[in-house]
Amino acid sequence: MNDQANRLREMAMNVRKEIEAELKGNFQKTRVIVISSGKGGVGKTTIAVNIAMAISSMGKKVVLMDADMGLANIDIMLGILPKYNLYHMIQGQKNIKDIIIPGPGDLMIIPGGSGIDELANIDQNQLQKLLTEIGKIDGQYDYMIIDTGAGISKHVIAFLLAADDAIIITTPEPTSLTDAYGIIKTVHRRQSFAGNLYLVVNRVSSDAEGTLVAEKFKQVCTKFLNRDIALLGSVVNEPLIGEGIKQQQPFIRIYPKNSASRNMKSIARSLMEGVAGWDDYNHVDKPAGGIKKFFKKISHLIQ
Ligand SMILES: Nc1ncnc2c1ncn2[C@@H]1O[C@H](COP(=O)(O)OP(=O)(O)OP(=O)(O)O)[C@@H](O)[C@H]1O
Ligand SMILES: [Mg+2]
Repeated sequence: MNDQANRLREMAMNVRKEIEAELKGNFQKTRVIVISSGKGGVGKTTIAVNIAMAISSMGKKVVLMDADMGLANIDIMLGILPKYNLYHMIQGQKNIKDIIIPGPGDLMIIPGGSGIDELANIDQNQLQKLLTEIGKIDGQYDYMIIDTGAGISKHVIAFLLAADDAIIITTPEPTSLTDAYGIIKTVHRRQSFAGNLYLVVNRVSSDAEGTLVAEKFKQVCTKFLNRDIALLGSVVNEPLIGEGIKQQQPFIRIYPKNSASRNMKSIARSLMEGVAGWDDYNHVDKPAGGIKKFFKKISHLIQ
């Protein structure tokens, strides 16, 4: 009798060990990428939507989140009408599967809505609920790409600080560059930032202009902040991008061969594979923090 009980116990232990080993080996967390800018209207949403689409088209699982509290940019750009958003999940009215909706191709969308604002007032119970729900998709996606609003607000800084990869978008205009520097300085001052910091120069006249602008910007960051910032790429100024928005489709889907599309696909590849010539800087191999940890961090930082 005793022998049989021991054997059963041993079998159960072995199964448990096997499951634990499998979980350890295969559980890859979601990489969280946050897109922001100092100045508004520089192309954050355009770039967020298109690089999310590009990464998804390359066979990775991608979820795109709209964290702009102002206008629901992504909804408009993709012509979707979400019924529920993060707010309903924080309030306990809806689960993650009720608020996550399909976008173009295999891309999935999480509408932030007023839930982003609500993160500042969240109580312990709500936070637990949020983390449990969000935890359900952690690892199910390879990438979570988050589009934020512009400027140095508490929310935007918290999102950037908690990210695995923080991308700052600027145009070559001096005002946009000054504001981009401002946001980088704020992020840099916070010791808690452990992610990668990247720059994208949008609306350039040529690749050469993008490289030149980024090089100068990088020098300023090195000189005054002693911080390296890697150029993820630049995107040419393309009037057709406005047309794409009217059609409520990602630009790279309507004009896949356009230079701006090629630029955005190249940015997507650099995010996935690392920036050429930046071996010391790239931390693509560094394990991702995951969505649950990300939300834990932001709710802590915002409060
Ligand atoms: N490379 C580009 N070439 C031409 N037009 C562009 C380009 N990128 C963005 N735009 C245009 O710039 C405008 C602003 O773009 P978008 O909404 O993506 O900016 P944003 O930074 O998300 O703005 P906001 O700060 O309001 O959220 C849009 O009309 C868009 O069509
Ligand atoms: Mg936007």
